[in-house]
Amino acid sequence: MKKLKVMSIFGTRPEAIKMAPVILELKKFSEIESIVAVTAQHREMLDQVLRLFDIRPDFDLNIMSEGQTLFDITSRALLGLNKVLTEAKPDVILVHGDTTTTFAGALAAFYHQIEVGHVEAGLRTRNKFSPYPEEMNRRLTGSLADLNFAPTETAKENLLRENVPAEKIFVTGNTVIDALLKTVRADFKFPEEFSRINFDKKIILVTTHRRENLGEPLRQVYKALKALVEEFSDIEIIFPVHKNPKVREVVKEELGGLDRVFLTDPLDYEPFANLMNRATLILSDSGGVQEEAPALGKPVLVLRDTTERPEALAAGTVKLIGTNREKVYNAAKLLLTDAAAYKKMAEARSPYGDGHAAERIVKALLWKHKFSSERPEEFTG
Ligand code: UD1
Ligand code: UDP
Repeated sequence: MKKLKVMSIFGTRPEAIKMAPVILELKKFSEIESIVAVTAQHREMLDQVLRLFDIRPDFDLNIMSEGQTLFDITSRALLGLNKVLTEAKPDVILVHGDTTTTFAGALAAFYHQIEVGHVEAGLRTRNKFSPYPEEMNRRLTGSLADLNFAPTETAKENLLRENVPAEKIFVTGNTVIDALLKTVRADFKFPEEFSRINFDKKIILVTTHRRENLGEPLRQVYKALKALVEEFSDIEIIFPVHKNPKVREVVKEELGGLDRVFLTDPLDYEPFANLMNRATLILSDSGGVQEEAPALGKPVLVLRDTTERPEALAAGTVKLIGTNREKVYNAAKLLLTDAAAYKKMAEARSPYGDGHAAERIVKALLWKHKFSSERPEEFTG
C-alpha cells in the first residue's frame, strides 16, 4: 500500500512546541511519510524549539522580517507554500492553532485541493477582534479543515454549533500537555546563566506579546509589575521578553535596570517550562501558558479581556484580569498576601490533556485513510 504523505506546516514558537509531539509520533509509523515545512514566521524562537525536539524541516521558507505586517506574512507564506505543495504533493497537511501561518497553510492546501487537518481546532471567543487576528485565523482555518482535532469537549461543541459534522471531529486533548510532560522534571538543573536568580524568593514569571496589547496596555501592565517589585521585597520577577521590537522597547523603558527584575531573551522551552514549575505566580497574555500552568498547579493572571480557553477559568486556576494597571496590581497583590485565595487557584488540574493527544491525532489519520479500522478513543478530560 502506498504510504500516506503527511506534511506538517507551521511557523512560530507555540506551533512548533505543539506540533513537535505530533511529528515525533508520525515518525513511528512505517505507513506514513512525514514531511515538515516551516514558514519561519518566527526565526530564532522557532529554531529554539526545532533544536530541542531535533526536528529538521524538509522545507524552510524563512519569511520573517522585522516588524512584519499581516499582509507580509500571509502573502509570503502563501506564495512559498504554493511551491512547496507543488513539489512535495502531500496527501494531507496538518496546521496548528491560529497564527497567520496556520491560515495561509490551510488556504494553500485548499487551493491545491489537499486535505487539511487542523490541530487545536474549535477554540473561540466569538469576538472577531480579540484576540486579533487569531480568532479569525482559526475560524477561517476551521472552514477549510477536513479533519478537526479538538483539544477539549468544549472545542468540539463550538464546532458542532457551526455545523461541522461530528465524524470530522476528534477530541484529542491538547498536544501542549504531551510536550510539557516530556519536558518538566522535578530534578531539572537550570543552566549556569540562571544562577543569578534567587530561588529563595517567590518567582513571578511574566510573558507578553499579544498584538491587541501592544503599546499602552502593555505599559500599564509593566507599571503594575514595577509597583509590585517595589512593594514586595520577597519576590523576583523573571520576564523572558518576546523578540517583537514593539514589546521590547516598552519593557526596557518601564522595567530596565530594576532590582529583582530579571529580563532575558526568550528562553528555550526546557528551562521555561521548568521555571513555570518553580514559579509562585504567572502573569501572561499567552495562549499556551494558560494551558500549561494549570497542569503544574500554578495560578495564572491572564493579561487579556477575552479567552478562547474557558476550561481553566472554570477550573479556577486562571483569572482574566486584562491590562489595567490597578487591576493587575490588585490581583497579584491578593495572591501574594492571601494564602487562602492563592491555595484556591493553585490546585493542579489538567483540563487540556493527558499527554496522549499526538497518539490520538496520528491514530485518527490512519483510521481516516483506512490504514487501521480503529477510530481513536476520545480524550474525556
Ligand atoms: C505570532 C502570531 C501569534 C502567536 C505568536 C506566538 C500572527 C499574526 N501572530 O505573533 O498568533 O501567538 O506569534 O509568539 O500569526 N521576531 C523576531 N524573532 C523571532 C520571532 C519574532 O525577531 O524569532 C520579531 C520580528 O521583528 C517580527 C515580530 O517579532 O516581525 C513579530 O512577529 P509576528 O510573528 O509577526 O508576531 P507575534 O506577535 O510574534
Ligand atoms: N515559551 C517558551 N519560552 C519563553 C516563553 C514561552 O518556550 O521564553 C513557551 C510556553 O511554554 C508556551 C509557548 O511558548 O508553550 C507559548 O508561546 P507564545 O506565548 O509565544 O504564544 P501563544 O501560546 O500565545 O500563541
